[in-house]
Amino acid sequence: MTDGACDAEDSTQGMTRGLPNYGDSGFSLFLRKAFIKGAGYTDDALDRTVVGIVNTGSGFNPCHGNMPQLIDAVKRGVMLAGGLPVDFPTISLHESFSNPTSMYLRNLMSMDTEEMIKALPLDAVVLIGGCDKTVPAQLMGAASAEIPAIQLVTGSMLTGGHRGERVGACTDCRAFWGKYRGDEIDEQEISDVNSSLVGSVGTCSVMGTASTMAGIAEAMGIALPGSATPPAVTADRMRIAEKTGTRAVGIARERLTVDKILTESSFENALRVLLALGGSTNGLVHLAAVAGRLGFDLDLATFDQLSRETPVLVNLKPAGSHYMEDLHRAGGIPVLLDRLRDLVDLDALTITGRTLGEELADRDTSFTQDVVRPREDPIYPAGSIAVLRGNLAPGGAIVKQAAATPELLEHTGRAVVFENSADMAERIDDEDLDVHADDVLMLKNIGPLGAPGMPEAGYIPIPKKLARQGVKDMVRISDGRMSGTARGTIVLHVSPESAVGGPLAYVRDGDTVRLSVADRVLSLEVSDEELATRREQKPVTAQQPPARGYRRLFVDQVTQAEDGADFRFLQAESMRATVPRAR
Ligand code: FES
Repeated sequence: MTDGACDAEDSTQGMTRGLPNYGDSGFSLFLRKAFIKGAGYTDDALDRTVVGIVNTGSGFNPCHGNMPQLIDAVKRGVMLAGGLPVDFPTISLHESFSNPTSMYLRNLMSMDTEEMIKALPLDAVVLIGGCDKTVPAQLMGAASAEIPAIQLVTGSMLTGGHRGERVGACTDCRAFWGKYRGDEIDEQEISDVNSSLVGSVGTCSVMGTASTMAGIAEAMGIALPGSATPPAVTADRMRIAEKTGTRAVGIARERLTVDKILTESSFENALRVLLALGGSTNGLVHLAAVAGRLGFDLDLATFDQLSRETPVLVNLKPAGSHYMEDLHRAGGIPVLLDRLRDLVDLDALTITGRTLGEELADRDTSFTQDVVRPREDPIYPAGSIAVLRGNLAPGGAIVKQAAATPELLEHTGRAVVFENSADMAERIDDEDLDVHADDVLMLKNIGPLGAPGMPEAGYIPIPKKLARQGVKDMVRISDGRMSGTARGTIVLHVSPESAVGGPLAYVRDGDTVRLSVADRVLSLEVSDEELATRREQKPVTAQQPPARGYRRLFVDQVTQAEDGADFRFLQAESMRATVPRAR
């Protein structure tokens, strides 16, 4: 037996794990080895600790365009530690290549990840993901698969340049498109900038969902310290990949399973970091889904308490001005965690086998930089994401106030209602649309069930005729999501969603809507009696479910936003606690 090899006689390790059932386990192992030896493996290699590497490379996923190099580096790390690395594919999701929306497919990817991890003879697994839904799907799947797992993100893309200005996806994509809609730039310029917004392979270069999930994974301790921020094409990213491979062998030997890392403490640390990053609102939905796999119920009211006392310290777009590569040069997530020492649980265990506090103690975070702000000079004082309640959202709604127009956070206005995405697309730019800058744009039927898949259509465009007048922001309300790269006074995740008969379904043009972030209120100034009458006159009725396929499963099983929009049958059998814990 070589150093680091597992015991081939032990049916719970290495190649002997999880044999197909032929009624004779000896024959099953004999057959398995015969086949894999056809690829040139020796018995020495096959006796080793087996580390699976989830390969989510795809020609349709430029956010994962460095996958071959990452896999090489992870393999090198695994072999340096005496293990046997084997990569295998799962579904890969890219935001721009997932119709109708990547969120519709996230749960499918989580099922693929979980079942392949369970099916293969793995002692540990390296999850390589990056684009928005991939890291959540992998964490959900690995949490349910209950094996040692370590997350590696692909890393952010480089920024590009346009006519002397630094640009990056995708906050700047939206800004330039807004200028184009407002006739501020012409066809030539919008075409030119299209070639500059994405400077290389890798994930979006601002604090969108991918960057948020990368930061969260590191803060939760399921990825190596310092692993969230190296850009995709850098030597630092490859070194992190090698180290991840090496550590994967360690967690296999120590049986450091996901549930030992993803605890109440690590979820609370993740929520703090989500807030301090000025992170994507999608992070909340994904954390609820991962938590639900482990039997934790995400409590929005307590999250709002955390929000009120957690400042935004990271100066990245869309809430700030920098990009991911700047955050990396500024020291990344360890610097942020160091600033939050009194707000995070330093005793939380990380994937290194050491606590968060022990890891931070080894880092020098004292150098001068201007991306992670000191506590006394935050980007936003507190409450980057606020939780709203009221008769319009009995189950809750959220707003990313750190990326909103401050004057609109206290606003009462007249509702301009769109029944669904198609209705909005048809009428939003109609010159005859009765809409003014102080109205409230409301979009129904883009929730988890309604679209289906809860698309990022909550970023309702400013009607063209108002955009031309220079209107940059309006209060916009929906039961959908928005990209973490977007900014604006946008209320999202209204629950229950309109498709299941939530109050949003009964809003009409001309109703008065009140948003008060200070009071955490989202209300419809319509009496209960009037709402009941509307409900009686035109009740929301369940759509005929699709006859077959994944869509049928989705429609039957998807939960509301506050439960992570996961499938009911994939959640833990029972919830054992709430996160964050009551304070
Ligand atoms: Fe993949 Fe933004 S499109 S991270």
